[in-house]
Amino acid sequence: MVLGFVGAGTLGTGLALALHQAGCPVGSVSSRRFQSARALADKIPGCVPFPTAQEAAEAADLVFITTPDSVIETVAGDVRWRHGQYVVHCCGALGREALQAAESQGAETGAFHPFQTFAGLDEPALTVNRLAGVTFAVSAEGRLESFLKELADRLGGRAVSITEELRPLYHASAVLSCGYLVTLLEAAVQVWQAAGFTEEDALNALAPVARATLENVASLGPRDGVTGPLYRGDVVTVRRHLEALSRSRPDVARLYLSLTEKALPLAMQLGMGPDGIEALERTLAEFDDRRPDTQRPGSWQSDAHQSSAVPPSGDEPGAGPLDADLTNADPANVDPSRVVQPEARRL
Ligand SMILES: NC(=O)c1ccc[n+]([C@@H]2O[C@H](COP(=O)([O-])OP(=O)(O)OC[C@H]3O[C@@H](n4cnc5c(N)ncnc54)[C@H](OP(=O)(O)O)[C@@H]3O)[C@@H](O)[C@H]2O)c1
Repeated sequence: MVLGFVGAGTLGTGLALALHQAGCPVGSVSSRRFQSARALADKIPGCVPFPTAQEAAEAADLVFITTPDSVIETVAGDVRWRHGQYVVHCCGALGREALQAAESQGAETGAFHPFQTFAGLDEPALTVNRLAGVTFAVSAEGRLESFLKELADRLGGRAVSITEELRPLYHASAVLSCGYLVTLLEAAVQVWQAAGFTEEDALNALAPVARATLENVASLGPRDGVTGPLYRGDVVTVRRHLEALSRSRPDVARLYLSLTEKALPLAMQLGMGPDGIEALERTLAEFDDRRPDTQRPGSWQSDAHQSSAVPPSGDEPGAGPLDADLTNADPANVDPSRVVQPEARRL
């Protein structure tokens, strides 16, 4: 089975090199600019760069369309496909509908998304470690599905089947754990810079703790891998952070506030009691410019005063019992006054 690529960018290059390294024949490549195709072909013996997607497709049995997501459908529609030819894209959020034009010509279509970043993968040797243990989301049928699962296996990864409708949800998780992880670290760098340090100083400081945290979460899970003031119940420290960030980096203060809200259910599981929750909610309300004034501390306090010490009866409007599974509670919907004894809910 000869493999071809249309789109010699970050993923196309890394995946082609990885498949070549795994012993799969990569025979053709094209890209928007011929020089990109040639740069990839130069790294793989036997791979021919072509000026058009049509020519690259004709020279392959399975074609990976590795263009930006927004172009996949256009490329699929511009090429004349052979009956029975395999056509696959690597976008996480799209399903096979993006390849409808190829399917209507008799091609078999699929999606093959590696849950991994390919940034910096431009040498064959680098691909081996990067793809080991990686999850590949496969959406395909019949022989193509089996073949794509076999490819995942040969790359040292593992395949999971993802239905078409679940792909956007699945891919949101990929973005949270990769692209937005970078956003978070970039924010941490900016805060270091606001304290007068360089980006290099910041990265030297952040990299060890970020690496150790990822390793802890991977081996212990979020619950046992987490540390920080919120999980110790140090609400005063959270307040000091918000004060400092609001002065120096208001954009990061908003991010910090949202993350604190999202972290609240886990803090509750880990034993944050009603007093801590109440103090935290007051702090968040004070710094949250998205909340209407009615929810700012003054009015909030009178509401909380009525209910914080008293278990809710369930009779008053909106006073349903707090969901017993706080693990899945949406912090935006958690009313701290409903939480009576979080300690009793610890797993
Ligand atoms: N990057 C990742 O880590 C990663 C991870 C998982 C999945 N993916 C998926 O992989 C796909 C490619 O992403 P990427 O990050 O590799 O993007 P990228 O680095 O921007 O590369 C896209 C390549 O497609 C080429 N291209 C653009 N328009 C084209 C067209 N009309 N015809 C032919 N080639 C065209 C570009 O050409 P020129 O260079 O010739 O100008 C570029 O080299 C996307 O579907 C993405 O969701 C990416």
